[in-house]
Amino acid sequence: MVAPSILSADFARLGAAIDGVRAEADWLHVDVMDGHFVPNLTIGPPVVAAIRRYCDAYLDCHLMMTNPGDYLEAFAAAGANSASVHVEVGGTASLIEQCRSLGMSVGLAVNPETPIEACEEFLGQIDVLLVMSVHPGFGGQKFMPVALDKIAWAASYAERNSLDLSIEVDGGIDEERAAWTCSAGASVFVAGSAIFGRPDPLAAAAGIRRSAERAAAGKQGG
Ligand code: DX5
Ligand code: ZN
Repeated sequence: MVAPSILSADFARLGAAIDGVRAEADWLHVDVMDGHFVPNLTIGPPVVAAIRRYCDAYLDCHLMMTNPGDYLEAFAAAGANSASVHVEVGGTASLIEQCRSLGMSVGLAVNPETPIEACEEFLGQIDVLLVMSVHPGFGGQKFMPVALDKIAWAASYAERNSLDLSIEVDGGIDEERAAWTCSAGASVFVAGSAIFGRPDPLAAAAGIRRSAERAAAGKQGG
């Protein structure tokens, strides 16, 4: 699945930017930053609500926040389909429970410097593991290969334990990195600058999908 990150879209023309990629967007990735967990400020529940009024896209909200628990209800009410909280903020078990009880899909995000083992005990309780392949905070950064080992570890863990877990990768994803991360076991590809930063965002999103599909076919073929 392809999840264009609207962080790299033109916020003054957000509706048009969304329309431009909808045909290739399985999810829309919404980067919420609190100026505390990460050194940037972006989107909050009012913008999610505005997008929800505008279209019925699946809104995948990535909460880069120190206190996501204070806002989960507001995101659910705004129309978020899923919320991913960071394992680094702690209180993970109760955040997962809170997301669930609000009827959202549950994601757990992990930063590049955090060992993947920090997520292990939660993998059976979540829908999506969001593996960061950049330090969160800004779009347009370079992909960090440390994500590949984490994806592979989580994919093999999920398989061994028969978990229904999607592995989403976020940061520096373009066609080539979508292929690498797909081969490692990722199935959801977030891309901001490699979609909205291109002259033809729809074609760019299609290219990422094609590239991942090719890598998946190669993997199946052995
Ligand atoms: C980074 C965000 C990403 C970001 C990705 O903090 O979580 O979702 O938008 O942007 P690109 O694809 O440009 O790395
Ligand atoms: Zn993100």
